[in-house]
Amino acid sequence: MEPLPNVPDLPRPRVAGDVWRTSSGRVELRGGEVHVWRIDLAGLRGAAALATLSDAERARAGRFRFPGDRDRFVASHAALRAILASCVDAAPAALSFGESVHGKPFVAAPAAGRALRFSLSHSGDVALVAVSRGLEVGVDVERVRALDDLEGFAARYFSPRECAALAQIAASDRLRAFFETWTLKEAYLKACGDGLARALDAFDVTVGAAQPRLLAVRDRPGDEARWKFERIDSGPGHAAAIAAPRDWERTRYWRGGE
Ligand SMILES: CC(C)(COP(=O)(O)OP(=O)(O)OC[C@H]1O[C@@H](n2cnc3c(N)ncnc32)[C@H](O)[C@@H]1OP(=O)(O)O)[C@@H](O)C(=O)NCCC(=O)NCCS
Repeated sequence: MEPLPNVPDLPRPRVAGDVWRTSSGRVELRGGEVHVWRIDLAGLRGAAALATLSDAERARAGRFRFPGDRDRFVASHAALRAILASCVDAAPAALSFGESVHGKPFVAAPAAGRALRFSLSHSGDVALVAVSRGLEVGVDVERVRALDDLEGFAARYFSPRECAALAQIAASDRLRAFFETWTLKEAYLKACGDGLARALDAFDVTVGAAQPRLLAVRDRPGDEARWKFERIDSGPGHAAAIAAPRDWERTRYWRGGE
């Protein structure tokens, strides 16, 4: 595959059974699989990665106020291109993207890339890219950070049922549960491609459950059975999740940039 941007290794998650693998050569993406790539954006030099981006991406990069944000944007988009290009044996710079009506990006060219589905998320120094052949995938990562008014944030972004469930979680675990719930909701929205067009209280996800799932979807009945979730272990400082349709069979986890 094309080399990913020059990114250093991330600290391994401090848990047994680390799922993240380093790829040695080209990775085959099979039907039914979702591959998740983790890219460490810390200390990246944006200039090298910039070369593979389109004029539109460069223009977006140029609008960031802070150099660090710009470099993280450039590095994550360069990594996304490298990952997608490797799936279709194309050069990263040869990919072009389109956007759905609510902003979900897709590969417009080359033609072989149109069957790919992908999702990108970045928070702090971590970017995750999920990719599949034909499975509408959504991924979200959030840095777990202190919030002054956790209950207020929950009331604003979560459904009443989710807020009630969060209040039942032990105070010491509540912040983490909040961000895990957030990533489940975002991963689902991103898989559906709805973005901000969807009311966040129109559906309920589990809060703090070992096996996350949709409990009720009031604005799209039947989605409860249509979508599956998986939590991603991206270390103690982050919460992350993937959503994909029921026929998602297997997930493989890769470290980018090695
Ligand atoms: C844009 C959105 C899809 C995700 O934004 P986010 O969580 O702030 O940012 P992430 O890094 O996770 O994802 C951004 C990427 O999602 C992708 N994206 C944008 N619109 C999308 C859509 N409608 N569907 C799927 N993916 C989308 C793009 O690749 C984007 O990357 P880019 O901005 O570098 O081009 C949208 O849901 C949003 O802005 N949410 C705001 C946060 C919020 O209110 N969350 C409530 C959670 S309970």
